[in-house]
Amino acid sequence: MIVEWRIWPAGLEDADMLARLEALAFGGRSWGSDSVKESFVAPRVTVLFGGASETAPQGFAVWRDLGPEAEILTIGVVDEARGGGLGRALLSGVLEAARLGGAKRCFLEVDARNAPAQALYARAGFAQVGVRQRYYRDGGDAVVMALDL
Ligand SMILES: CC(C)(COP(=O)(O)OP(=O)(O)OC[C@H]1O[C@@H](n2cnc3c(N)ncnc32)[C@H](O)[C@@H]1OP(=O)(O)O)[C@@H](O)C(=O)NCCC(=O)NCCS
Repeated sequence: MIVEWRIWPAGLEDADMLARLEALAFGGRSWGSDSVKESFVAPRVTVLFGGASETAPQGFAVWRDLGPEAEILTIGVVDEARGGGLGRALLSGVLEAARLGGAKRCFLEVDARNAPAQALYARAGFAQVGVRQRYYRDGGDAVVMALDL
């Protein structure tokens, strides 16, 4: 099935929905509801929602505008919507907004064990630029990836 994904900005009133989506997408690796909701009050952070319809978001992206650089903090898609291009659409939404805002480069950290996410970023042109050892609480490494915009 080919879905025309819609991507739109989320606001403070969507904080509970973001927490729900994030818990669904990440399961045991969730940031936790309070940390997720802080995305809406953190400086220069933007939350995008995505889905087949604006009445029912099925994925999200959180990114930070650091002037010449943009940092992707997290992207997630609920299980039922995976594999249909929504992750790619959310990533494109972030890159487009970052470009419009004047960013020249986008970077992110991704769990070295997370092959689907690394593939998503590589497919969009990101390349590995470093490794942060024992970055995660469970001792796992993070791969740093970057893309020139
Ligand atoms: C990573 C994630 C956001 C991908 O979302 P998605 O909507 O399923 O991704 P898409 O359907 O848009 O796929 C885009 C590309 O990602 C890659 N990809 C996605 N899922 C993949 C999988 N299971 N295995 C390998 N590559 C995968 C592919 O390169 C794919 O392109 P292709 O279909 O043309 O080959 C989703 O799996 C997810 O929410 N995972 C849990 C949360 C997470 O780990 N987020 C990343 C944190 S940095």
